This record gives sequence, C-alpha cells and structure tokens, in this order.
Amino acid sequence: MDNILRLAVQKSGRLSEGSMKLIRSCGINVSNGIGKLKAKAANFPIEFFFLRDDDIPGYVADGVADIGIVGENVIVEKGKPVNSVHKLGFSKCRLSIALEKSVEYTGPNDLDGMSIATSYPNLLGRFLEDNKINASVHEISGSVEIAPSIGLAKAVCDIVSSGSTLFTNGLKEVETIFYSEAVMIANKQLSTEKQDILDKLLFRIKSLQQAKNSKYILLNAPEENVDEVIAQLPGMRSPTVLPLAQKGWVSVHSVINENDFWEKIEDLKAAGAEGILVVPIEKMIL
Ligand code: PRP
Ligand code: ZN
Repeated sequence: MDNILRLAVQKSGRLSEGSMKLIRSCGINVSNGIGKLKAKAANFPIEFFFLRDDDIPGYVADGVADIGIVGENVIVEKGKPVNSVHKLGFSKCRLSIALEKSVEYTGPNDLDGMSIATSYPNLLGRFLEDNKINASVHEISGSVEIAPSIGLAKAVCDIVSSGSTLFTNGLKEVETIFYSEAVMIANKQLSTEKQDILDKLLFRIKSLQQAKNSKYILLNAPEENVDEVIAQLPGMRSPTVLPLAQKGWVSVHSVINENDFWEKIEDLKAAGAEGILVVPIEKMIL
C-alpha cells in the first residue's frame, strides 16, 4: 500500500472543518459523509481516516496513518515521536489557565496550592514546574470548563479559541501557557513513494498559503516615474510594464505582500500612480 497516503483528520471538532477545507482547496475531491470513518479521494492518492484529534499523534507515530492534521497543543501534550512537517495557519488557539470571575488574581503565585482541572497534564505540569508553583492537577478528558462550578477544581487549564466557552461558564482567563495552530505531522519512516505524495500535497498547500499573503496589483503611472514605481514593486521576477493608449502613461502589474500593502500604496501614490487595483490571488506557483 505504498501508492496511497493515509491522512488522519479530526472527526468532529475545531479542526475538522479547516482540515477538509484545506484539502478541498488543494483540488482534492473527497466526501466525508456523517458517521464515516474512512474515505478515499477521487483524484489524488490519499485516503482519509476520521479520528479523535487526541489519538492522531499516536496513530501517526505507530504508522496506522502516514500523516495527520492536528493542533500543536495535542502534538506537544502527547509527546509521540512524529515529524511536524508544516504549519497550516488555521485553528489558532491558546492553552490557558482560567478561574471563576469572582476569584481575585494577581499573578502565577496565586495558583500555589490550588487544584486545576485539565486535559493537558503535561503542558500544564511544565508551566507549573517552570514557575515553581505547587498545584494539584486533576486530569479529566472533557467538559473541563464545568469543573469549578461542580466543585471539582478551583481552576481549569483548557483550550481557548473565541473565549465563548469560558465566558458562558463564568470563567476568566488568567495565564496563557501555550499557543497553537493546526500542523501537518508525518510518520518518521515514510517510504519514498509516500514521501513523494506528501511532497505533492505540501506543494499545493504552500501555493495556497503563498497566494493568501499576496495580492495582485495593477496601476497606471506616468512613464517618467516608472523607475520610482517599480522600485516599490519588485514582483515575482520583475513587474510587467505595458504602454497605455494615452502617450506618456504606462500600466504596471505586480505582486505585493499583504502586510506591507498600505505602506506601498502611500509611496506609489506619491510617485504619481493612479487607478490602483488590488486583487486577490487564488494560487501562486513560484
Ligand atoms: C476546546 C475547549 C473548549 C473550546 C473552546 O475544545 O475544550 O471546549 O475548545 O473554544 P472557544 O474559546 O471558542 O469557546 P476542543 O475543540 O479542543 O475539543 P476537544 O477537547 O474535544 O478536542
Ligand atoms: Zn480533543
């Protein structure tokens, strides 16, 4: 079975939608019917296993799955020997300690002697040790947020994304101990054939990520200022410059980074650029 790559994704939860959306944006057609545990893509040598996210690092480490999409929080917590091959930029969240709103908090030392409920005993243990805090850790596997209200623990240490779970349970975030996002992990001993399929998949993912951070820009500028304009727009190789029907004017096309977009626009306008259009790019192959 070296000609097919087995990918483990979360069955249902915060990562599921983002994982399947990413796969579909890579042009891979797959239907994950409700309750289905396995599916094959129609147009790419990949098979999907829909699993609990907590189990994904273990399955990938053991070679039951070849690769997986899972949060860094789960990878580090489980500590299984897998390769983290690429950050995927979605499902960003943090692991935080939270207390009931009414409890006063001045700093980590206030946690001393407290009981903390969590599904992340290793990450929490590391934080407590680093900060020399003596607290008792109650490991529970779910619904951590209700622990204070039922008297199981004074504090919780859990994943926060929008913050709505904490809010609806009357809790306040007091310490963030880990930042996480979705990551592609792989078994440490992939065959050459499987590694080739993974490389093809990563190539598509990187093209999408590149495109997301870039914008296609078109503008008109007086020909005499073209050097000044081009200096602002290095482009992929170099910008395209086309003459306009109106003499003395050119149209310049290039690619810019989303992050320095506003700064560039100021400089371009100062160089006489007008009719500036900025459009999204769907895919980008460098
Ligand atoms: C986490 C956490 C909360 C929720 C927080 O669960 O346990 O339930 O997300 O999100 P919010 O801040 O947007 O309300 P997760 O999705 O990791 O589920 P799991 O523990 O079942 O894998
Ligand atoms: Zn989970």
